[in-house]
Amino acid sequence: MADKIRVLLKEEEVNARISEIAAQISRDYEGKSVHLICILKGGVFFTCELAKRLTVPVSLDFMSVSSYGSGTVSSGVVKIVKDLDEPLEGKEVLIVEDIIDSGRTLAYLIEVLKQRNPAGIRLCTLLDKPERRVKKQVKVDYTCFTIPDEFVVGYGLDYDQKYRNLPYIGVIEQ
Ligand code: IMP
Ligand code: MG
Repeated sequence: MADKIRVLLKEEEVNARISEIAAQISRDYEGKSVHLICILKGGVFFTCELAKRLTVPVSLDFMSVSSYGSGTVSSGVVKIVKDLDEPLEGKEVLIVEDIIDSGRTLAYLIEVLKQRNPAGIRLCTLLDKPERRVKKQVKVDYTCFTIPDEFVVGYGLDYDQKYRNLPYIGVIEQ
C-alpha cells in the first residue's frame, strides 16, 4: 500500500526560501567564484535550484558519502563512496546538503575537505534538525528551514531510496 505523506513545506515555499538564500550567498561571495559541492544523492535537487539562482560564477562537483543504511537511524559510520573529481586548492567551497541531522556526516567531511587547502569552506543546507545534533561543532552557514525532529522525504530526501522526486517536503504518516 502507498504511504500517506503529509506536506510539511510546499514546493512554492521551498523555492521562495531557496531564492532568498541564493541572494544572500550571492551577496556574501560578491567578486568571487563559488565551488559548490553537492552531497549525493539527497543534495541534488537543492543544489540545482540553488545554483540556478546564484549570480556569482559557479562551478560544481559531487561527492557521495554513506552514513545511513536503508533505515532511518544513523549508523555513525561515514565512508566516502564517490570522491570529488576536482582539487579544492584555493577555491571558495560551499558544501550543499539536504539535511543536517546528527551532524556526523558533515563533521567528518569538513575535516577531510579542509585538508585539501580550499580558500574557504562553508556549509549550506536545505533542512536542519538541531534537536538531533550529536556533533555540536558543526557550524551551518546557510539554512533554508529549521524543522522539528521528524523524518522527512521529498526534494531529494528519501526513505529507503523512495520519494526523492517529490517536489515538496513531507512526513510519512504512520
Ligand atoms: P547526519 O550525519 O546524521 O547529520 O545525517 C545526514 C544524512 O542523513 C542526510 O544527508 C540524509 O541523507 C540522512 N537523513 C537525516 N535525516 C533525514 C530525514 O529526515 N529524511 C531523510 N534523510 C535523512
Ligand atoms: Mg544526504
